[in-house]
Amino acid sequence: MMVNPAVSALLAQAAAQPHRPQMGLVAIPERAWIQPGPDLREKLVLKRQLLAERHDEVFGALPGTEDAGSEVADLLFDTLPRHFPTTYPRMGSMFAIAATSELIGMRSPGLHPLDLAGRIVPDDLCLMQADASGTYRLTAASLCFPSRWRLHEKLGRPVGEIHEPVPAYGEVLQRPVDRFFGALAQGRIVQRVNWTIHDRPDLFQPQSPRRHEVPPERFGSDLFLRSERQTLRRLARSQAILFTIDTQRWPLAELSPEDARNLGAAIAQLPEPERRYKGVSALADGLAAWLARR
Ligand code: HEM
Repeated sequence: MMVNPAVSALLAQAAAQPHRPQMGLVAIPERAWIQPGPDLREKLVLKRQLLAERHDEVFGALPGTEDAGSEVADLLFDTLPRHFPTTYPRMGSMFAIAATSELIGMRSPGLHPLDLAGRIVPDDLCLMQADASGTYRLTAASLCFPSRWRLHEKLGRPVGEIHEPVPAYGEVLQRPVDRFFGALAQGRIVQRVNWTIHDRPDLFQPQSPRRHEVPPERFGSDLFLRSERQTLRRLARSQAILFTIDTQRWPLAELSPEDARNLGAAIAQLPEPERRYKGVSALADGLAAWLARR
């Protein structure tokens, strides 16, 4: 699969300027909110398997989150068949997922509504809700494709604490992010895109990066550009904020020469704490040079 244009644009931007942590939010129309692609079937089948075999690792919800979860399911019921009538054809009071030939009803007894919602779309879904003091916390999530984090370590925690391992977050991003959460208007949808390097292709990847050496002749096959397209929107009834994470990854050998060059330049610019955070410390200089030659 080709690297999508938003990721190519991010790499071009990261290559062109010195690294600085940024929110990077852009407004998007509702039809660009969920983007079911050719890998929809692969992702939904894998989600089913993870939810069956290790439910507690990939789904979590605090008590009292059912109403906000129902709002997410309702939103998907309204939006998906409207924007993607062939991918999600409406069938009376239900709709189908063409890629998996499943029929989905509005409610599924015994299943948290956010859990149901997560089984429909390629994205991971996180609910953020304000506590009595106005602090937004992660209150529920369907998280099958984490990139090096574990849901049970973050559930119930405020946005600032969730980002504790992220370099420079506390100094640069925490205040604008908190302000953004308080002010996000209903009806507005924003997107941000990130990138990192992984040494395995697995979509479910809660563990920290491996520390082994990848020899340069295997960079193309054994290292992956991994990117998340994240969106944020406020839910009308509950006033919760829904955070979606749409994960893609490509072996480095599949990058276009331009994407590879930009990724190389972006890695070359990364300060050491970011290199360590992205798990490329030991490889960074060799990898940047290898990418530059592609
Ligand atoms: C405007 C909103 C947000 C901004 C600007 C932001 C920013 C960041 C940044 C800069 C990183 C480092 C990796 C990257 O470049 O993406 C990160 C990681 C992360 N973010 Fe966010 N984030 C936002 C919202 C959220 C929300 C709502 C959640 C809720 C689950 C979240 C969960 C995480 C987690 C779990 C990590 C990995 C942390 C770790 O390494 O343990 N982020 N975020």
